[in-house]
Amino acid sequence: MSGELSPIDKAKFVAAKRAADYVEDGMRVGLGTGSTAAWLVRCLGEQVKNDGLKIRGIPTSTRTAELAREVGIEVISLDEAKWLDLTIDGADEFDGDLNLIKGGGGALLQEKIVATASDQMVVIADVGKEVETLGAFPLPIEVIPFGWQTTQALVEETLVSMDVLGRQSTLRMNGAVPFITDEGNHILDLHLNRIGNARQLSMVLNQMPGVVENGLFIDICDAVVIGYGDGRVEVRDINEGTVETERLDFVESDNLFTDLTD
Ligand code: 5RP
Repeated sequence: MSGELSPIDKAKFVAAKRAADYVEDGMRVGLGTGSTAAWLVRCLGEQVKNDGLKIRGIPTSTRTAELAREVGIEVISLDEAKWLDLTIDGADEFDGDLNLIKGGGGALLQEKIVATASDQMVVIADVGKEVETLGAFPLPIEVIPFGWQTTQALVEETLVSMDVLGRQSTLRMNGAVPFITDEGNHILDLHLNRIGNARQLSMVLNQMPGVVENGLFIDICDAVVIGYGDGRVEVRDINEGTVETERLDFVESDNLFTDLTD
């Protein structure tokens, strides 16, 4: 990536930069997936190189693992880490209770496992991800390839009795072929428009044979760092009940802003 950053990229960057303050020496840190999480990995890589920060990163996808290694972060598996101090990840939507829709990048399964195995999960997002009610962003669910069309039909039928506004679903594609997750599964995107009872929907979906996991993160996120295009960041902590706003100095350093592909 080169040249002027767009306001949305600036927003993602300042959110990631502020969230990097949560990371302390010696921590085992879950590294999310997506364009906002990629900024975080870059920021942490800078701190590892320039400030001697010592952390072990647990990536939530093969592409995050590649980026983390590239920027000099020591990468270990979840089983090596066993438990994490902190996970920082992006989101597709978050509401006032910090419940989330995730999986736009197709990594929801590892993301949920890693976040759930962490003392704290911090979400980083541009302000456009905030919603009053979840569901405008299509809800991703990971399904096993075996009989996926039967699973899809069952999911759509089940949605009839759920508090949602739509029930169409689409198989996520990667060009002309189905998208394949890191676990070898497919993703169905559920076009629900509005999810009235996210907790109930999450439980019902996860009881269905063929569904591996869904992208609703309920009561998992502890804090959200919201970035704005003008460099402002707002930190909302659901446990402390605090909201803090500040403005970050924004310098487009060459190290961070070149060759960012995610
Ligand atoms: C990947 C995710 C991402 O965190 C989510 O899609 C947000 O991505 P981005 O930061 O690129 O907007 O859940 O599975």
